[in-house]
Amino acid sequence: MKRLAVFTSGGDAPGMNACIRAVVRGAVYHGVEVFGIRRGYNGMINGDIFPMTSHSVSNIVQRGGTILKSARSKEFMTPEGRKKAHDQLLKHGIEGLVAIGGNGTFTGALKFFEEFQIPTVGAPGTIDNDLYGTDYTIGFDTAVNTALEAIDKIRDTADSHDRIFFIEVMGRDSGYIAIQSGIAGGAEMVMVPEVLTPISEVVETLKQGWSRSKSSSIIVVAEGDEEGNAAEVAEKIRTQVGVDVDMRVTTLGHIQRGGIPTAYDRILASRLGLGALEGLLNGEKNVMAGVVNNELLYTPFIDTIKLPKPINEDLLRMVRILSV
Ligand code: F6P
Repeated sequence: MKRLAVFTSGGDAPGMNACIRAVVRGAVYHGVEVFGIRRGYNGMINGDIFPMTSHSVSNIVQRGGTILKSARSKEFMTPEGRKKAHDQLLKHGIEGLVAIGGNGTFTGALKFFEEFQIPTVGAPGTIDNDLYGTDYTIGFDTAVNTALEAIDKIRDTADSHDRIFFIEVMGRDSGYIAIQSGIAGGAEMVMVPEVLTPISEVVETLKQGWSRSKSSSIIVVAEGDEEGNAAEVAEKIRTQVGVDVDMRVTTLGHIQRGGIPTAYDRILASRLGLGALEGLLNGEKNVMAGVVNNELLYTPFIDTIKLPKPINEDLLRMVRILSV
């Protein structure tokens, strides 16, 4: 392979820049030409493709977001869109791709290969940590620390006012951010999409706390929880415990997606970026580079897309035990 391209796609994640840097510098080291594609698959369709050098990625290892920008492309989901993207890659002589993103990104790459045989190796970039084939995804550690900082601050005010706070963290289908930030922040309960926590159980936990003179509580709710988002959960609880209970809801939202990546994320991103690049150069295709038990390995896209990454339910049990 003489020329390849790198792009970021889907929701951005802190550490994506460190990953781009590793791909570009790795390509330079191996004597391969490397191009950048802006705005994910949309940029591929529109030909927003440009050559990158070692200098292009100077001074970005510490920056959040992605210098290549990102998008969730609707056009790439159509055969016409993918045809346009292929025409652009041909025009630029690009023979392989490194895709930094999540499930949607890898689903698109697989379809693209079936139609045009352009090989892609992925690097898992999403704050959700919901990808099978890697213990952690790029951006997850930073997002957890951002959520934790907010939880710590909310705990101060919750305690001062004897309030119950429902704090919503990101995770449409995944409770990883909720569990980790909840444990580290000493939450009384954590509600995640993977495991149903009935409202009655939350009410029971709150009542037990009150019987022990606990005056404030933190409940961390993943946005995709089965009982609803944090506002919906709070409302359901209010109807059961009465209007006198002082409750507040805080949605952390997109602050979890930005910010300076932690050391862990920078190192993981560098490893996965170089791993994806070297995999592609060694003939891997349609696989995602991941780190499992501290070992770099490649998992077929089809598995990362289809196989669930179960949360550790023992951690949820631990939250309950530690909040008595
Ligand atoms: O996939 C990452 C993520 O941040 C999810 O946790 C969240 O549900 C979603 O992206 C939000 O996406 P958008 O920024 O497109 O609204």
